[in-house]
Amino acid sequence: VVKADGLAAGKGVVVAQTEAEAIEAVNAMMEDHIFGASGGRIVIEECMVGEEASLLAFVDGKTIVPMISAQDHKRIFDNDEGPNTGGMGAYAPAPVVTPEIRKEVEEKILKPVVDGLKQEGITYQGCLYAGLMITADGPKVVEFNCRFGDPETQAVLPLLDGDLAQIMYACAKGTLTADMVHWKDAAACCVIMASAGYPASSHKGDVISGLDAVDKEDVMVFHSGTAKKDGQYVTDGGRVLGVTAVAGDLKSAIEKAYANVKRIHFDGQQVRSDIGAKGLKHLK
Ligand code: GLY
Repeated sequence: VVKADGLAAGKGVVVAQTEAEAIEAVNAMMEDHIFGASGGRIVIEECMVGEEASLLAFVDGKTIVPMISAQDHKRIFDNDEGPNTGGMGAYAPAPVVTPEIRKEVEEKILKPVVDGLKQEGITYQGCLYAGLMITADGPKVVEFNCRFGDPETQAVLPLLDGDLAQIMYACAKGTLTADMVHWKDAAACCVIMASAGYPASSHKGDVISGLDAVDKEDVMVFHSGTAKKDGQYVTDGGRVLGVTAVAGDLKSAIEKAYANVKRIHFDGQQVRSDIGAKGLKHLK
């Protein structure tokens, strides 16, 4: 994968299928300057093929307690088609992260990172987000974030069986232990409802109806791109709402999330219909 190191409006990446294509991409960026100054320096990385997953972890500087795994859906359309977005939905746990893979991520990725930061004089405390590609050769890192993930968090935290504040306090104080963190034996699915034009643009001011009709139990509607106008909720950004449902298994969580999404409406709403479908394939 050949990438212009500077900003290129999301277009500066070439996923070369052959060595010749990779060389062509390097020449186009560095000699023909197709991305201008942004291609003056390039990054060359291994092409990772597989399924993406996210594993977030609580960290107190030395102790690492991974959360349950999750999977984001970054493209705007079903079947992972169309442009990238901030995330159109997520579910947890993600069966692609088997107990063996989870252990490998903990030992070969999370622990070395926290130890490495420590050696560089950084005591990392808080949430560490590992964006992973689960390849045929095992889990590999796509990215790290020093924050929770969106929309993964809307699927992961509803499954936390305990007090998040107590866990975060332990992270801050350096007193975190694995037995402070428990998870419900359940699954969660978060479906994002986006406004017209997203991700290229967004549409503001469309009236959102049906919020009062959602289930009162095991369903949460997270507001992101909303505003209140004349007593009504209206769209006010790209990703408008995240509708999360918790149920005993992934299939029921997906069904419940979509049943509640159907009760909410705003003009131009964009909703993927396949959030969680990849997870169900693993469970067959
Ligand atoms: N879901 C991707 C992120 O939070 O960066």
